[in-house]
Amino acid sequence: MLLTKEDLTILSQNGWLYKQNNTAFNILDIGQQLGQPIPAKKGRNLIDIITPKTRENAKPGSLSSIYGLDEIPFHTDGVYHKIPPHYVIFSFSHDLPYSSAIKILDFESIKFTEDEIKTLFYEVWIVEDGYNKFYASVLSKFADKNTIFLRYNEACMKPCQSMAKDSAMLLKDNLNTSTPKNINFQPFSILILNNWRILHGRDKVENSQYVNFALQRLFIV
Ligand SMILES: [Fe+2]
Repeated sequence: MLLTKEDLTILSQNGWLYKQNNTAFNILDIGQQLGQPIPAKKGRNLIDIITPKTRENAKPGSLSSIYGLDEIPFHTDGVYHKIPPHYVIFSFSHDLPYSSAIKILDFESIKFTEDEIKTLFYEVWIVEDGYNKFYASVLSKFADKNTIFLRYNEACMKPCQSMAKDSAMLLKDNLNTSTPKNINFQPFSILILNNWRILHGRDKVENSQYVNFALQRLFIV
């Protein structure tokens, strides 16, 4: 089942779309409708399986290696790609609800000052994930000067000059004081995020029996 014209309009306007109670979702088909699906990292399957992980079981350099089953702070996915994936699709097909809410936050809804936005465009960070290492900023523009994309994940991005610590602080302050939307993932549902605009995080996983609950994830460029 593909997205309808109305779905695409909502996704374009809000930057995200959540649909539930449909067993006919195929995230690869939907991914192809939105662009080109890519593996999260070279050599991996197109569809990633994401499970909540303890600090000990998480891959080094991941947010889970820092936060484990605690609350995962706001970030965008695939920051280690030179151009991060435009869309990320999560799908959940268990017959029980996912254990913890996914929180989403629209970057466009955060009240940054003009100076703060400039800081996020021009301060330089280093992105490092074990395979890639390159310089980038939190906000970037494509050559057409109209399309802006966001890149932020504190596990694999660090300000590389002392000045850039300003952008780290202002991001943390603004993200922590913004009001997110909580999505309690229901069985047979999908969540599509415009990853160039919408940050996401996860609530603390309260009940350890839920660590086996898996979300499927697909990146689209
Ligand atoms: Fe994520």
